[in-house]
Amino acid sequence: MCGIVGYVGRRDAVPLLVDGLKRLEYRGYDSAGIAVMEKGRLEIRKCVGRLSALEEKLARQPVAGAPGIGHTRWATHGEPSEINSHPHTDSTGRIAVVHNGIIENFESLRHDLEKKGHPFRSETDTEVVPHLIEQELKDGARDLPEAIRRALAKARGAYALGIVSLDDPDTIYAARLGSPLIVGVGDDGQFIASDVPAILNQTRKVIYLDDGELAILKAGGVRVMKLDGTEVKPDIREVKLQAEAAERAGFETFMRKEIHEQPRVLRSLLDKHTKDAAAVALQDVGFDDAQWKAVRRIMIISCGTAYYAGSYGRLIIEALTGLPVEIELGSEFRYRDAKLSPDMLVVSVSQSGETADTLASIRKARRAGCKALAICNTPGSSLARESDVVFHTEAGPEIGVASTKAYTAQLMAFALLAIHLGRLRGELTAEQERELVRDLHAVPDAIHYVLARGEEIRAIAQKHGDGPSALYLGRKFNYPTALEGALKNKEISYQHAEGYAAGEMKHGPIALINEYLPVVCLCTKTRDEVYEKMISNMKEVEARHGRIIAVASNGDESVLKLAEDIIFVPQVRDEFSPMVNVVALQLLAYFAAQARGTDIDKPRNLAKSVTVE
Ligand code: AGP
Repeated sequence: MCGIVGYVGRRDAVPLLVDGLKRLEYRGYDSAGIAVMEKGRLEIRKCVGRLSALEEKLARQPVAGAPGIGHTRWATHGEPSEINSHPHTDSTGRIAVVHNGIIENFESLRHDLEKKGHPFRSETDTEVVPHLIEQELKDGARDLPEAIRRALAKARGAYALGIVSLDDPDTIYAARLGSPLIVGVGDDGQFIASDVPAILNQTRKVIYLDDGELAILKAGGVRVMKLDGTEVKPDIREVKLQAEAAERAGFETFMRKEIHEQPRVLRSLLDKHTKDAAAVALQDVGFDDAQWKAVRRIMIISCGTAYYAGSYGRLIIEALTGLPVEIELGSEFRYRDAKLSPDMLVVSVSQSGETADTLASIRKARRAGCKALAICNTPGSSLARESDVVFHTEAGPEIGVASTKAYTAQLMAFALLAIHLGRLRGELTAEQERELVRDLHAVPDAIHYVLARGEEIRAIAQKHGDGPSALYLGRKFNYPTALEGALKNKEISYQHAEGYAAGEMKHGPIALINEYLPVVCLCTKTRDEVYEKMISNMKEVEARHGRIIAVASNGDESVLKLAEDIIFVPQVRDEFSPMVNVVALQLLAYFAAQARGTDIDKPRNLAKSVTVE
């Protein structure tokens, strides 16, 4: 999604804006621009395409000064074009605005403003904002803050805004409603950004703006007020993340680096939340035993990859706790007439903590009296702040658009929660808990093993990755793994891929199987009949000459006869095998994408966090 950066202070804003926008590139964008106060003039540079194009333009038409605001745009209203890219200005060119989110009533606002003589240049919803501010100044607002507040009172929808004006040439105004925005407090100036990594190399002191707040930034300090004008005491927090966490550390892409970080991420979650490698002891999650025991039903809500993590969550919680669990897509749940009750725990799952549909669903559930637990990777995000309790997945910044380490951390969080709940509810004995925790501890090393098989997986990906389509099959705990493996492949290699419950194959997808179709089968050994059933499904694929790529347990001879290619992985307990198996599929998708030459960290059309519906 779009990115925002701004700086006010004694330094030249331009290099800071470009650097900050580069750090937000992972969010996905199709055009970029900046507005900078240069010697009493408001200078704007924008262009379509990558930031390198903006840098070239800045080399041809240099600008220097401060304050400045910058933006990377991911088109929603109007095609990617120079005119549609931000910053947008009012009719006098005195006010410039960058915006993330959507002004839903922009058409009627624009119509009214046009009747009052405001000329519009772009097709965007954003352009109404500078014109509205200009109009409020004409209509008697005492000063810019009042004009901004009055203008925003008329806008419906979601916004994170950065505003500069020649009327107040040493100030940035920043406002938020429904779209994330932070203020960075530095020693020699202040920043705004839509995401912490944009300014992490400049300051670690941040203010997370709340919905309905307006910040006024000057070189010497920051004031925060509500949209009704009441002053708010800024809550300055220290961000613990290190700037290097958001860098590639020698890997060719962020995604590759993040895939390789998984053993460390899971190990540190285990170290934090288990005691003597024998029992779960959740740290800082916020509920006491009585609150956990009061839970009668669980509803998990999330989108995309996080939805597949939630699907695993349902399976593991059902298996270990006996509680009824439902799973919902945020985009569907928010419009459903679902029956909600206060004895229900609503669990949201999200890397960014800003996914619009997930957030809206949690707000709906909380209004109905449900308690909300967020499994979230971004401290300070809207979801983390709006939930009753948070399980922080602490995977560190995930920059690659395709989620990897956040996913396995979500699976680990669910496994730990399920064991904890199972024990509290008397469904697990101390001995069973000890065995489960011991088996969980085997997961990071098993992932290391898969990572070390990278070159074998690369060869398989190169062989199968160039066809038009692929099918992914799994059962029970690895049904979500099949869905996630197919999604990874689609996202980064652009090869069409379908994930299916293997038992559903005969109900339709079997018609696709021929001698060209790669069929990825998740058939690691299990204690129950699922493994045998998977072997039967593979035989059905083989009989129709499908090209089987199996993910199988080390040493499993029976798979050798069926599969054209095999990715052997260490055998871990069935319940935890998705954390290991998915890493093989992440690498398979990764190498297929590399062979196809796609932009792996920033796949076309995708945005890292989907902050609009
Ligand atoms: C994952 O690879 C995706 N890019 C996407 O499906 C993502 O998981 C989804 O948008 C949810 O995001 P969230 O975890 O930040 O809520």
